[in-house]
Amino acid sequence: MPPTHSHARSPSRASLDLANRLARDFDQAMAAGDIEIPPLRQSVVQLLELCNRPTFEVREVVEVVHTDAALAGHILRLANSAAFGAKQRIDSITEAVGRLGARQLQGVAAGLMLKADLFKGSVRLGTRLRHMWSHSALAGVYARDIGQLAQLEPRAAMTIGLMHDVGEPFVLRQLLDLEEATGETLPDDVLDDVVHVLHAPIGAALVRAWGLSESLAAVAEFHHDWAEAGEHSPSAMLAQVADEFAQWSANPSAEGGRLLLASPAVQKLGLDHRALGSLFLARDEVRDVARAL
Ligand SMILES: [Fe+2]
Ligand SMILES: [Fe+2]
Repeated sequence: MPPTHSHARSPSRASLDLANRLARDFDQAMAAGDIEIPPLRQSVVQLLELCNRPTFEVREVVEVVHTDAALAGHILRLANSAAFGAKQRIDSITEAVGRLGARQLQGVAAGLMLKADLFKGSVRLGTRLRHMWSHSALAGVYARDIGQLAQLEPRAAMTIGLMHDVGEPFVLRQLLDLEEATGETLPDDVLDDVVHVLHAPIGAALVRAWGLSESLAAVAEFHHDWAEAGEHSPSAMLAQVADEFAQWSANPSAEGGRLLLASPAVQKLGLDHRALGSLFLARDEVRDVARAL
């Protein structure tokens, strides 16, 4: 059975003990500077900075894209894909930036980095990582659309959705390292539990180690509990709603739809019926875009 993202079950005692031990090891290693943090692509950092400014020029975005050949190829492919509404073929980065829009392009760049550098890995964990990535990609596209519908302030809406679970692949890799060190194979439910317990705080620590904004760190830390995010609660709420839509979308049912509508985060966001209806109806489109990322 594929791992599920939602986590209705409470973790077992054994899982909690292991999670506590890993959290302690992680904090100690971080404090000692003795932990390998996956590097962040410079193009993504620069695009995030640009898009967080009140104003920027398309030329500046194009310059950044030109520094990253993989990114340049990827956005040309996306800008020419049906999922992104391509009708006429384009061949230049400037046109691709124009078609995608700089803010969406920023999300696309973050998505490419996450998919290529973080949500990939060993044969043993490959299925889990792919599942995590497809959930994150869906949440990224939902966050983009919800951000527009709710006219939210966060400019990097898509990145907020894409990165909310950034701690998950990292925790999974820590568990794999532990298996290698001990020669012991951990049961599936223990892997799921420990990832669930640790992904939020460890995700926030990663975002901070990368030097990204406190708002993104709050997204990683509080996307299951947006009300705790203080001044960053609008971003955390957006992530939580995008997460809930992504879960519904992977496993849609009428009952799931009703639960989603009753969710405190969705209600607090204050989307009207038309906006919510359009999010439900856009499921196929959202999935096409998420798959293309
Ligand atoms: Fe999560
Ligand atoms: Fe999630």
